[in-house]
Amino acid sequence: MVKNKILILYHSQQYGHLHTMAEAVAEGIQKAGAEATLFNTNHSRFNIEAYRHYDAVAVGSPDYFSYIAGTLKTFLDDWFLAKSREPEGLVNKPVALFLSYDRGGRARQSLEMLFSRLGKQVGSIVECDGEPDSAVRAACEDLGAKLVQAIP
Ligand SMILES: Cc1cc2nc3c(=O)[nH]c(=O)nc-3n(C[C@H](O)[C@H](O)[C@H](O)COP(=O)(O)O)c2cc1C
Repeated sequence: MVKNKILILYHSQQYGHLHTMAEAVAEGIQKAGAEATLFNTNHSRFNIEAYRHYDAVAVGSPDYFSYIAGTLKTFLDDWFLAKSREPEGLVNKPVALFLSYDRGGRARQSLEMLFSRLGKQVGSIVECDGEPDSAVRAACEDLGAKLVQAIP
């Protein structure tokens, strides 16, 4: 049987908090029987054409000045332009969200508002203040499993 493919797109740069959360999301996805691909947008720009091959997406951002990280905004800009040319494979995928911050967290609004364009949000956003603890990692795992279940 062909496994569902899920993209975990995140920006992690300062301490690796988003990377830790992304790995936990991946674990939940794999335990639920799907394939997870981790992509840190801080390392390189995601090739938007590749997005067509995924069944669902999890997006994780740090709070940067009460907004999402710029590299994730670039992803959205690329997505919008590609969708305008050819929407097939780019629209209506289930979306799960996770956010990391340091005593702030106001980026939640932009993360939810902007990424709702990709498709229906699955579960609630997982938020983490500071270093992800075992409860946050468990919530991320759970989110990954919910995302797999939401694939039609
Ligand atoms: C440029 C920059 C701007 C930031 N702005 C905020 C902010 O406005 N509010 C907040 O709560 N945290 C802010 N932070 C803290 C990060 O969101 C937080 O440390 C996050 O966990 C980093 O994730 P990472 O370790 O995966 O890179 C900022 C960090 C950086 C580097």
